[in-house]
Amino acid sequence: MASTEHDVEPAELRWAGVTLGFSAIIFVLTLFAALALQRNPPSNLERLDPKSLHLTGEFTEPNLGTRVEANGRVTVRMVATQFAFVPHCVVVPEGREVALRLSSADVIHGILVTGTNVNTMVVPGFVAEVRTRFDKPGEHPMPCHEYCSVGHEGMWARVKVVDPGEFNRVYGKQSRASCERQ
Ligand code: CUA
Repeated sequence: MASTEHDVEPAELRWAGVTLGFSAIIFVLTLFAALALQRNPPSNLERLDPKSLHLTGEFTEPNLGTRVEANGRVTVRMVATQFAFVPHCVVVPEGREVALRLSSADVIHGILVTGTNVNTMVVPGFVAEVRTRFDKPGEHPMPCHEYCSVGHEGMWARVKVVDPGEFNRVYGKQSRASCERQ
């Protein structure tokens, strides 16, 4: 028995209803996660000019790397640029809150600190900030995980986690910590 338009139409409407229903459920759950659970992308809405990133402000060369701020907070600043992170290795203490702040000088890059929950895009014109705590010493490779053109697969950095005593001993007296001083 061949189906007629009369049979097909209710079936199509049913499937359209199911599809719309699922879309509505996903939309409501997304809103719920964002508004009630505060699950938002880690990037905040701090703007800056990618063209003058290296000349003025927070991301000039002397500010890059790990710093212990006056209030004791550990902040890591890095610039993502085709096709490298500057600096290419950063040292952080185990067990303390660390704020990673990154900005891009050119296109969209991404960071992923392997073995941790750090994962964000770095969009030019904005500061990408992620706060985390590293719970054991070790070294984490940090690849760029957003395709950023031909050199993308060679764009890597390293995050070196050291115990807090060592961090203070070796780096505490310097305002800026780098992997080379170890
Ligand atoms: Cu930078 Cu991919």
